[in-house]
Amino acid sequence: MSNLKITSFDAKTFSDFDNHKNVFRIEDTAEGLLAFIVIHNTNRGSAIGGTRYWHYEDEVGALRDALRLSRAMTYKCAIAEVPFGGAKGVILAPNNASQEQKDAILISYAEALAELGEPFYTGEDVGLNEHDVQVLEQHSKTIVGRPDVGGLPAKWAALSVFYAMEGALVMQSGSPSFAGKKVAIKGLGGVGIDLSSLLEKAGATLVGADIIPERVERALVNHPTMEIVDSMAIHSMPVDIYSPCAMGNEFNAQTIPELKTKIICGAANNQLTTKSDGQRLFETGILYIPDYVANAGGLISVADELHPLGYSQERVESDIKRIRNTVEKIIEISIRDSVPTGEVADALAEERFLKRDIA
Ligand code: NAI
Repeated sequence: MSNLKITSFDAKTFSDFDNHKNVFRIEDTAEGLLAFIVIHNTNRGSAIGGTRYWHYEDEVGALRDALRLSRAMTYKCAIAEVPFGGAKGVILAPNNASQEQKDAILISYAEALAELGEPFYTGEDVGLNEHDVQVLEQHSKTIVGRPDVGGLPAKWAALSVFYAMEGALVMQSGSPSFAGKKVAIKGLGGVGIDLSSLLEKAGATLVGADIIPERVERALVNHPTMEIVDSMAIHSMPVDIYSPCAMGNEFNAQTIPELKTKIICGAANNQLTTKSDGQRLFETGILYIPDYVANAGGLISVADELHPLGYSQERVESDIKRIRNTVEKIIEISIRDSVPTGEVADALAEERFLKRDIA
């Protein structure tokens, strides 16, 4: 029997708080659900963002993650010109939950979505798979990234990273061509593997790394010429483009001096450990494409499921292609004003969502 309790949570004292619109704490002791849904900003439209299912140490850690990730979603929506606002759901996964227990948690969470008093469109993020999305979908009308519509967003995130790379190449060498270019991909999961195919087709030489041997084997089956290197060393390979597609916090005072790439462009969220690492990269002359600009393809696809005319793969592809122009614009301003690309992207996004101009 459900015992759902949704309360508004005052997160103003948290350092990650940035005028977030709503913070909901959700608990269902009967089903083992404990979650936060954080809505950052809805100036451009209803809230959208994935739901993460993760083993957090405590509620504070989970809430911090949700505050940070929901804010990033607002920036991503604005830069990708998607008419939605940023939000995020985080579920505190209990230890050793069976699939049956996980299903019960997800059902209770899905039921909570209808009780928030405002729409929150959500779907897969770290810790949720296609089955989990189907469970959510059966119990909520606000699930996106539905397997039978746009599908899981990874392939679209890979496509946007690819176009972002083209934009970077154009600005650096005058041509979007990958012929003769070497690209290193860290993380051969959903995004990394699709990105490998796009790059190989475009004529790039590939270097790859993953900590899971099966992922490496799968990559080699699809891309026998991929050079496999150690996960700890891939960032220091001499390549034209380095593409982090694993986890975040990739660049810091220690790793940046070890880089031997001209361009950084990948899907992993939160690649810069601190804001000053953006400045550090800028000073080294390495062109950094902000993560949330490069990986916005997934968001573009899931948001399109809510388009009044219904999902259109053609529209999704053309919207994702626009990321190349956005990247070129960001680099142009960065060079003109001598400001790191991350700061340029943030300013462009803020201009859009703070002005309440629905695109
Ligand atoms: P995934 O979980 O399918 O793949 C990530 C891969 O990285 C896994 O194969 C994992 O073994 C590997 N990995 C983890 N730590 C590593 C390390 N230290 N060295 C080498 N490999 C490592 O995830 P997915 O979907 O491919 O996403 C990749 C990144 O892109 C994640 O950071 C995700 O948050 C981000 N992202 C994904 C989107 C999507 O639609 N899937 C959209 C936007 C961002």
